[in-house]
Amino acid sequence: MKLKGLLLAGGTGSRLRPLTYTGAKQLIPIANRPILHYAVEGMVQTGITDIGVIVGETGPAIRESLGDGGQFGCQFTYIPQNAPLGLAHAVKTASAFLADTPFLMFLGDNLLRSGLKTLVDRFISGQYAASILLTAVDDPRQFGVAVVEDGRVTRLVEKPQNPPSHWALVGAYCFQPEIHQAIMDLNPSWRGEYEITDAIQVLIDRQRVVDATFVDGWWKDTGRPEDVIEANRLILEDLTPKMQGILDESEVVGRVSLGVGTHIEHSIVRGPVVIGDGVQIRNSYIGPYTSVGNGVLIEETEIENSVVLPDSIIRGVAERIDQSLIGRGVKVQGRVERPKAMRLVLGDHSRVDL
Ligand code: TTP
Repeated sequence: MKLKGLLLAGGTGSRLRPLTYTGAKQLIPIANRPILHYAVEGMVQTGITDIGVIVGETGPAIRESLGDGGQFGCQFTYIPQNAPLGLAHAVKTASAFLADTPFLMFLGDNLLRSGLKTLVDRFISGQYAASILLTAVDDPRQFGVAVVEDGRVTRLVEKPQNPPSHWALVGAYCFQPEIHQAIMDLNPSWRGEYEITDAIQVLIDRQRVVDATFVDGWWKDTGRPEDVIEANRLILEDLTPKMQGILDESEVVGRVSLGVGTHIEHSIVRGPVVIGDGVQIRNSYIGPYTSVGNGVLIEETEIENSVVLPDSIIRGVAERIDQSLIGRGVKVQGRVERPKAMRLVLGDHSRVDL
C-alpha cells in the first residue's frame, strides 16, 4: 500500500501573534530551519513522496519555502483552503487530490523526534480504518483525547473539560479513503470548526477499527511562543557542530554551529547554540539553547534559551535575556543616557515581561 501525504500549513496562528501577522507560523525557524521543513522530512522518511500541502493566507510564503519538493525528494501539490475551518475541513478541501488513496495527514506546526514511520508501518500492515498517534500529557484539556481499550480507540473527545484519559492526539493520522464519507456527515463543533476527532468518532460508531500508536521520543506542538522555545531546545540537543565563522578573542564551548561570514568578538558562546550567516556578536554572552538567525547583530548583551529571527539588533541590554522569542528586524536597545526611562514601540499583541 502506497500512501499519499497531506501536510497542513494553513490556519490562523493567532497564539503566535505578532509573529504571525507578517509570516506563517509553520515557517518560524527552529535551530534556524523552518518548522515545516522538519515536518516534510518526517513524512518523506516514511516512504511518502506525493504530498498535498494545505495553504491559507500565507500560501505564497509557504510555496516559496518548500518549492516543488525536489530538495526533499518528494512532489508537492498546493491546495488552497478558503478559510481555516478545521482539520476535517482541510481533508475535505483536499479530497480531489487524495481521491481513493489512503493517506498520512500531518500538522505542519508539529515536531516529532521519531514516530511517523512507526505509525505508517503499523497502518500499512494492519486492517484499520484509521491509525492515530497518541502521547501521555499532564493536562489533556487543551487536546483531542482518546480512550484506548485493548489497543483499539473506543472514544474521542476534543478539548474535554473532564478528560477521560491522559492520551492526547498528536498531529499525525493515517486514514483509509472512507474518512471522506465520515466527514460529509459532520456538523461544526461548538468552536465552529469541523473536527477530525468527530470524523474519527463516526468511524468508531460505525464499528470500524481505529488503531493507536504511542509516541516514542518527544513531540512538540509549536502553537505558542513558549512551545517554540522548548522545540528549539529539543532540536538543539541533537546539534551537529559546524565552524564557518571567525572568532576574535572569544571563547566557544560545547556544540556550536557558526555560519558563513559570522564574526564573534570578545564574547563567550556556550553551546548548544546555532548562529546563522553574516551575524555580528561583540562583547556578549550567548548561552545554551539559543538560535540566532542570519544577519543579526548582538552587542553588550547576554542571552540564552532564546530564538532570534534574522536581521534583528540587540544592543546594550542590562539584564540577561532569557526564554525569549524575538521576530525579524526587531531592535532591542539598552539606554545609557538620562533619563533612564524605558521607551517602547511595540506592535499589536506584543508581549514584554520586565
Ligand atoms: P491549529 O494550531 O489548531 O490552529 P491555528 O494554526 O489556526 O492556530 P491558532 O489556534 O493559534 O490560531 O492548527 C494546527 C495545524 O493545522 C497548523 O499547522 C495550521 C493547520 N490548519 C490548517 O491548515 N487548516 C485549518 O483549517 C486549521 C484549523 C489548521
